[in-house]
Amino acid sequence: MTVAVGLVSSTSVDEDLAGVWTPALGGAQVRRRIAALTQRYVTVEHLGDRLADLPHQFHHPQPRRWAAVPWAAIAPAQLSGIALDTFCAILMGAINTEAPIRGYTQASRRYLEHFYPQMAQFVGGLVDSDGRVIAPGLWEREEKRHAPVLNLLYHRLAGKRPTPVPHRARPYTPSGNPRTDLYRHGLHRIATEYGAACLYLWMMAHTTGPLQAVLGELLVDEINHMTKFWGFGRWAYPETGLAMVGSTLAQAMVQKLRHPQLQGSLLHTLRRMQDELAWPRWSMGNRLTFLYTLDQVMRVLWRWERSLTPTYLEQLFGPP
Ligand SMILES: [Fe+2]
Ligand SMILES: [Fe+2]
Repeated sequence: MTVAVGLVSSTSVDEDLAGVWTPALGGAQVRRRIAALTQRYVTVEHLGDRLADLPHQFHHPQPRRWAAVPWAAIAPAQLSGIALDTFCAILMGAINTEAPIRGYTQASRRYLEHFYPQMAQFVGGLVDSDGRVIAPGLWEREEKRHAPVLNLLYHRLAGKRPTPVPHRARPYTPSGNPRTDLYRHGLHRIATEYGAACLYLWMMAHTTGPLQAVLGELLVDEINHMTKFWGFGRWAYPETGLAMVGSTLAQAMVQKLRHPQLQGSLLHTLRRMQDELAWPRWSMGNRLTFLYTLDQVMRVLWRWERSLTPTYLEQLFGPP
């Protein structure tokens, strides 16, 4: 029986956060569940609300509270449409990617601090004169609960503790053009938050009960951060259009092709993520439904993007 927890009050035996649940999900059902989850968690209204929350969080940073998690109730039977070992390999990759959050937050803080001290504090907190963190930022406080939760999920599903191999976060590497550095760094951040949001949403489509509800908490956090970074970026770089995004992405890729030793291109990130998330082990159906998720979520982001007029963004954040 499906256990209704967290965000729904449904009591139906075969309904969960993503709609109808069966223990043997087919591709069409998974797609329907992805669409239902997108409608539930990624609406234009919700994205607008998450961005409007940012100025308030600058002054009163408060982590979002999670519903209590019934850990003992999490079991492999709450998984469908994907092999258990593949799902566990994905969890392992997510643990490795989420883990050194302090490194990520401090790199982001340094790109931001000269231009946008409030946003630098939101991501990286307060540091003393030696650069030691004396109070972590809200982004760090919310993100740092992800790896331990994924660890516990892995333990419940695989029946053993994970053996993570955490990444070293890419350090702050100024090129002499801090505004372009920040732009490129920001695109990376938005891309990773978007990737994480899509991954957790896609995992929710394959799960039910308390397992799905926990992934829902991760999803809500990632959508929140993705939205805040995207909207803040639109305000900080009002001159950017698709052309600038495209040319920055192209530059980031070309840079890697010309200087293969350089860490930090988008191609490098993409390839690393494929390895990390055990992509070769995904079935063709798994790959197609994941691409479908990327598309579904991006469609909402583009619709929301149209509401981010310069006038509205200045109401939120002041003159850029
Ligand atoms: Fe995360
Ligand atoms: Fe994140």
